[in-house]
Amino acid sequence: MNFWEEKYQQNETGWERGHINPAFHHWDQFEHMTPGRVLIPGCGRSPEVAEFAKLGWQVTAVDMAASAIDYQHNACAEQTNKVKLIETDLLNWQPSELFDLVYEQTCLCALAPELWAKYEACLASWVKPGGTVAALFMQTGNAGGPPYHCDLDAMAALFHNDHWDWPQQEPVVSEHPRGIHELGFCLTRK
Ligand SMILES: C[S@@+](CC[C@H](N)C(=O)[O-])C[C@H]1O[C@@H](n2cnc3c(N)ncnc32)[C@H](O)[C@@H]1O
Repeated sequence: MNFWEEKYQQNETGWERGHINPAFHHWDQFEHMTPGRVLIPGCGRSPEVAEFAKLGWQVTAVDMAASAIDYQHNACAEQTNKVKLIETDLLNWQPSELFDLVYEQTCLCALAPELWAKYEACLASWVKPGGTVAALFMQTGNAGGPPYHCDLDAMAALFHNDHWDWPQQEPVVSEHPRGIHELGFCLTRK
């Protein structure tokens, strides 16, 4: 059994808020954009999968943990025509069609930092030119993980200028009941 499947089976899912991430509502562009194709990598049991579908997006949600995918099958039972659920290792996956938007909610921080360059290359290959990666960078301030601290200088080097335009605006701050927070940035694929 993989690490994450064990977490779900043992109900050790302290990262879950139990409600939509405040950044999702802050980025109300999701509600006003013409809905297109959105990818949610490492979707877990997050309610944003069903929420995007309710807003009219065609959602692809991927996770390697069977429990997470089973959960989403039930949570999205009324939106099966809008939601495609895939149980696989993201780092060895390629979609048949590119996405307008990737909603990166704490999948990066779940991966060991030595895998981050590979994950960034995946993100760059999954999103259309001009498309967006809405990224929530975990701030724990601690060494080790998961969740791994996503230092902003390290993020700037990882999501580099060859692939990404960074926004001018200040990041969205999403507080978490565990006393940590995420910093949200909408990056544009060049
Ligand atoms: C910290 S949890 C976040 C879950 C969800 N995004 C949320 O906000 O509740 C990380 C998720 O990424 C998934 N994951 C980690 N590594 C993965 C990989 N290589 N391929 C697919 N899923 C992965 C885990 O199974 C887990 O559901």
